[in-house]
Order: sequence, then C-alpha cells, then structure tokens
Amino acid sequence: MEVVITPMAEDAARVVADVVAQLVDPRPHAVVGLATGTSPLGAYRLLIAEHRAGRVSFAGCRAVLLDEYVGLPPDHPEAYRSVIRREFADHVDLPPDQLYGPDVWADDLLAACARYDRLLADLGGVDLQLLGIGSDGHVGFNEPGSSLRSRTRVKTLTKATRRDNARFFASAEEVPRHVVTQGLGTIGDARHVVLIATGAAKAEPVARAVEGPLAAVCPASVLQLHPHATVVLDEAAAGGLQLADYYREAYAGKPSWQGL
Ligand code: F6R
Repeated sequence: MEVVITPMAEDAARVVADVVAQLVDPRPHAVVGLATGTSPLGAYRLLIAEHRAGRVSFAGCRAVLLDEYVGLPPDHPEAYRSVIRREFADHVDLPPDQLYGPDVWADDLLAACARYDRLLADLGGVDLQLLGIGSDGHVGFNEPGSSLRSRTRVKTLTKATRRDNARFFASAEEVPRHVVTQGLGTIGDARHVVLIATGAAKAEPVARAVEGPLAAVCPASVLQLHPHATVVLDEAAAGGLQLADYYREAYAGKPSWQGL
C-alpha cells in the first residue's frame, strides 16, 4: 500500500485526477470504477477541466459504479447513477451506454448482483477503482463486519452511514436502508485501487484502515492485502498515522520512472 500525503484537499484531488488521466491516455478503453460521495468530487472536477482542455478523453472508456441505493426510483437525483452523471459523466465524452451500475431495480435483486460481478469480469476487469472511506471504515457500502472476500450483494447501511448521508436528502429518514455494493472481494479484483480521503473527520478511519489490524470491523483495512493500493490524503486526514513521516519521505524521494 502506498500512502500519499498532500498538503490540502485540492492537492489530493490533483494526484487522483492525474492517476486517472495517466491510465486513460495510453489505455483509451480502460475500465474505471467510480465512487460517489464528496471525497472524489475535486478529482472529477479536475478531470472535467482536463477533458474540456482537450487533454483527456473518456470516449472509449467504460465506467462502473461502486454501489447504488436500493429503493430510490431510477431518476431520483440521489440515485448513484444520477449523481455520477451529474458530477462527472455528463460533462465528459463518456457515451451514456458505457456507464454501468448494478441493476437495483431488477425483480430478482440477488441475480442482478451476480450479474454485475459477471459484467465486471466480462469487461475485462476494473483497471482502476476509486474509493472513499466512511466514518465507520466502510469502502463501497461494505459496512463493518463485511466478509473480506465478499462479492456484489445487498447490504444494510449502519445508522452512522445513514446519518452521514442524510446531508444529501431532505431528512435522515429518507436515506435508504439498503444498497447494492461491490463486495470487498470484487473491489479487490480491480488492478489498482485508489482511495481518497480528506479532512480531519477521516483521520481516525484512515489510521485504522492503513495501520490497524486487518479486520472485518474496519472493512477498508482489506486494502492492506491489495498488491496495488494507493491511499491519497490531505494533511488533516493523515493526522492519525504513526508512519506519516516515512510516507512523506518515500513519496518525496520516488524515482521519476515510478508512477503511482
Ligand atoms: C460512495 C461510497 C462510500 C463513500 C464513503 C465516503 O460510492 O461507496 O463508500 O465513498 O461513504 O463518503 P464521502 O466521500 O461523502 O465522505
């Protein structure tokens, strides 16, 4: 796992946007996994700006959603497909039919989950999966206790997550209780996982994920097993890390041929 500590949230967003742009440039048919929430928004804005400046194209890419609420109508503004379109996909040249998500509106939800895992494999696997981290240590919506090898499935959100996400809804009661999320095993199949976290509120879950024990109680700790995981932080989110000086030194001294 590589930990990149940047001064400010904007710098973290720049690092993440550059990783995506550098993937898509030589690999125009890349499969990119997109997360919702606040954490990746700065990176999405930078990528949109890069696209408008003619420096990056997503025309041949396939984008896949990390998770989706169960129970919202498909055109609900907070359904994650709507969020990703509004915050990113509609502003770049990604063809709408190359944006995929789990079919949470299917009659047979369990079959739809299995289909989504098959789809990711049929696309050739995910080249780069963007992640945020929840205050309870979740990635995707794999809440504490999730199997570290889980596949895409239905999960029940914790009270803490529903409280955190209430800011996107008129009231906490409107936050759905269930989601379909890529499992921790599914996320782990991505060739590169990039987690972005900014702000002091993320310092504790980040420290548990990066330096705590590998344990289902902190699902993000599963990234410790991934052969290519990058955790991009601002100083505030890095505030709980014991080895912060080492991570800074290693990143500052990276040879120029070695990308992220
Ligand atoms: C979003 C997702 C979640 C968020 C996490 C952090 O698709 O799967 O894991 O990444 O809840 O959310 P923010 O970035 O809003 O703090």
